[in-house]
Amino acid sequence: MILVTGATGTIGRSLVGELTGRGVPFRALVRSAAKGAELGCDHVVGDFDDPDSITAALTGVDRLFLNSTGVTAGPGEQPIARRQRTVIDAAVRAGVSAVVKVSVWKPRHGGKLALGAHWEAERHLRASGLDWAVLQPTGFMQNFVTGAALVTEDGDILGAYGDAGVAYVDCRDIAAVAAELLTGTRWNEDFALTGPEAIDHRHIAARLSAVTGRTIRYVDLPPDELAARLTGQGLPADFAADIAELFAEVGAGAQDTTTTTVRDVTGRDPRTFERFLADHADLLAVRGTEAASRSTGQSLVQDS
Ligand SMILES: NC(=O)c1ccc[n+]([C@@H]2O[C@H](COP(=O)([O-])OP(=O)(O)OC[C@H]3O[C@@H](n4cnc5c(N)ncnc54)[C@H](OP(=O)(O)O)[C@@H]3O)[C@@H](O)[C@H]2O)c1
Repeated sequence: MILVTGATGTIGRSLVGELTGRGVPFRALVRSAAKGAELGCDHVVGDFDDPDSITAALTGVDRLFLNSTGVTAGPGEQPIARRQRTVIDAAVRAGVSAVVKVSVWKPRHGGKLALGAHWEAERHLRASGLDWAVLQPTGFMQNFVTGAALVTEDGDILGAYGDAGVAYVDCRDIAAVAAELLTGTRWNEDFALTGPEAIDHRHIAARLSAVTGRTIRYVDLPPDELAARLTGQGLPADFAADIAELFAEVGAGAQDTTTTTVRDVTGRDPRTFERFLADHADLLAVRGTEAASRSTGQSLVQDS
């Protein structure tokens, strides 16, 4: 039995589809019965912040897909690290044999926000005695449809990436890799996941303009100006500075390389950005007609 956490999320929904297609037994962890019913698969209600519910959800589980959100402003540990430790400890107690965890591209000790939090969670997992597989994806193509990308009041893309390419990966490919690993025998490895090409944000803006039918620009700011702008839009100053620092790292080429991991694990090439756009044309077209007055960066502070 596999337990899929984060099952209602972007990767999770694709993974539910992958596992359903394979006919393997799994159950989804959801935060309400209504979400489970909407997902339409075997499910159990629980919350990372309620350890007893996680212990109950892990009954009879052999393999665990571990994914969670949670970067917050302010001092103290990021929720990702705390929650994932809770789940890993519960998995050990429940007799789970192996965990496939979603991490980030090049996590590091002391790294800002998710980079440091995932490094902590990875360290805990590697020391747990369980078998593990750690997925380390670059930025998600889906950020451009989920609202996770920073945008201006006019709906333009906002960043500090300069001309650097980013090898964005499609979450459906992350899910496909996870499904292979959860049903396979390849353990105790890191899997650095990228799309097939590194693309810069002016190119992305041009492609989004073509699909949405309205002009979307890429607004590039020096990191300090980006931080000031985010602060002006309501983010705490330290948090805005951390975000800008991470963006600047990407602008220095931190995510401009590709790997062959998706092909190596799944046997097929990762989806291109063009393919992603074509498959999400309906969503993007809706976005193109929406009033572009979204609240910049709110997805980054969301602690759901
Ligand atoms: N976005 C990127 O570019 C990027 C790049 C690399 C790595 N990552 C990593 O990818 C992960 C996010 O993946 P995603 O985008 O697929 O997630 P997502 O779409 O944001 O979904 C998050 C999932 O976690 C569940 N969840 C949230 N809080 C929970 C709690 N307290 N207890 C139980 N479940 C909870 C949500 O359930 P509800 O439906 O109930 O809210 C949802 O199913 C993060 O760890 C992030 O650091 C992101």
